[in-house]
Amino acid sequence: MRKPAYYVTTPIYYVNDSPHIGHAYTSLACDVLARFMRLDGHDAFFLTGTDEHGQKVEKSAAAAARPPKEFVDEVSGRFRDLTELMNFSNDDFIRTTEARHIRSCQELWRRIAANQSPQGRDNIYLDTYGGWYSVRDEAFYADSELIKGADGGKLAPSGAPVEWVEEPSYFFRLGDWRQRLLDYYGAPGSGTVMPESRRNEVVSFVEGELFDLSISRTSFSWGIPVPDDEAHIMYVWLDALTNYITAAGFPDEESETYKTFWPADLHMVGKDILRFHAVYWPAFLMAAGLAPPKRVFAHGWWTNESEKISKSLGNVIEPADIVERYGLDQVRYFLLREVPFGNDGDFSHRAMVGRINSELANDFGNLAQRVLSMINKNCAAKMPQAAELSEADSALLDAAHGLAGRVRSEIAENHAFHEALNEIWAFVRMANGYVAGQEPWALKKTDPERMATVLNVAAEAIRHLAILAQPFMPESCAKMLDQLGVPDDARDFSCLGPDGALKPATKLPPPEPVFPRFVDDAAED
Ligand code: MSP
Repeated sequence: MRKPAYYVTTPIYYVNDSPHIGHAYTSLACDVLARFMRLDGHDAFFLTGTDEHGQKVEKSAAAAARPPKEFVDEVSGRFRDLTELMNFSNDDFIRTTEARHIRSCQELWRRIAANQSPQGRDNIYLDTYGGWYSVRDEAFYADSELIKGADGGKLAPSGAPVEWVEEPSYFFRLGDWRQRLLDYYGAPGSGTVMPESRRNEVVSFVEGELFDLSISRTSFSWGIPVPDDEAHIMYVWLDALTNYITAAGFPDEESETYKTFWPADLHMVGKDILRFHAVYWPAFLMAAGLAPPKRVFAHGWWTNESEKISKSLGNVIEPADIVERYGLDQVRYFLLREVPFGNDGDFSHRAMVGRINSELANDFGNLAQRVLSMINKNCAAKMPQAAELSEADSALLDAAHGLAGRVRSEIAENHAFHEALNEIWAFVRMANGYVAGQEPWALKKTDPERMATVLNVAAEAIRHLAILAQPFMPESCAKMLDQLGVPDDARDFSCLGPDGALKPATKLPPPEPVFPRFVDDAAED
């Protein structure tokens, strides 16, 4: 029986910039989750794409002396290339300039406008906006939220410049949705907004003064026209957030995709854009009579060698550079292993090399290489047969069989990718300890039958590891499974446990190291 469908989204990227490591990070977490769910028997849908409207993009296009459409076509392509570079398994790549999205946004607006708020007032009304706007954040700020810059001028809480904006605008009656939002968040620990510290932030924001939200602009034109009032374009966040339902098939609520995938199971976002996803978006959806997402998870930010990553500091980490330098799966592993998911983290060459050499090359790589080489040399390159199992053999196999359950709860429930890798590596170390303790190399002459059993049990441990680590390192794990002679159709999680055990006498290819050591001068200090 199929398990429930699973819909996970990554924020769609502003096309005013080139992709950097922060962009790769959000989508990588979604990719691992989507791959995990598919291997675990779910029909998973993973969405990414580009956010192409708004003042920020319009300004970037003007600075590049290009018409906006031509500009966004090119920059969007760079993000599409990122999905290939990083081996993301996204099922769709949405662009907010597509016709399907424009239609979906206008329909969502109409529905919000047609409905009344819980206080029995129109959800949308026309007025004049006078206030502070940050183009960089594409956000409005109350005077009380602003901070003082070094020159005494006003800045957004993020440090971005703000400008005074005064123009006719449609407003969304956000304040009327307070109680419905609080009900939606539920009790502490409900898992609607995660981690818990972020939930607390969101709840106290909503419990505070919740101003009505300006949702249209008239002073520039790069956006989706408001239905029945072409002088206005939609606020870029209302436009952007709607991508999540467009890709599910909205406004066709009867479509198979919409019925299967909406409401989304998880919107994964960086901490900077939590408010948009956990406050504005569910309020818009509820106002339109649609179901809000089941969960929003906010992760932390990366710095580079302890410095904020920014173009002006010249320390942007380009995904293509680090993938070329360290290897794709090494980068994928590092990003999710180095930092507890949810916290901020620091990228450093030293930390990267440390993890590649100790955890990938020494721990996991050597385990596989050692066992497979012994099978190759001492068992005529065929999977050996296990005879009677000792206590140590059974203990290792039992631990292998229990691993999937532990990894599942860390990935699918807690989104604690680092903890999932900790679990996997605790078992790598156990398997290494087993091989060291059983000394199969010494058994070759004294007890070849026992040697065969030890190598079979060790290979079985490696099979479990390679299957479970696939979502993190798809290419390397595929190589390892090839070397163990595991057929392509026996690599999902239903094949874990004794039923999918390696078949004795299977001919194995010559082993090749999967995780080489990284050697350079900087690593020697
Ligand atoms: N376009 C909006 C999202 C709209 S979603 C309906 C946007 N785009 S963005 O390109 O600026 O950022 C996309 C994602 O990258 C965000 O989740 C953001 O938190 C993440 N990151 C950008 N820089 C980052 C780091 N230095 N570290 C980690 N993630 C960061 O926001």
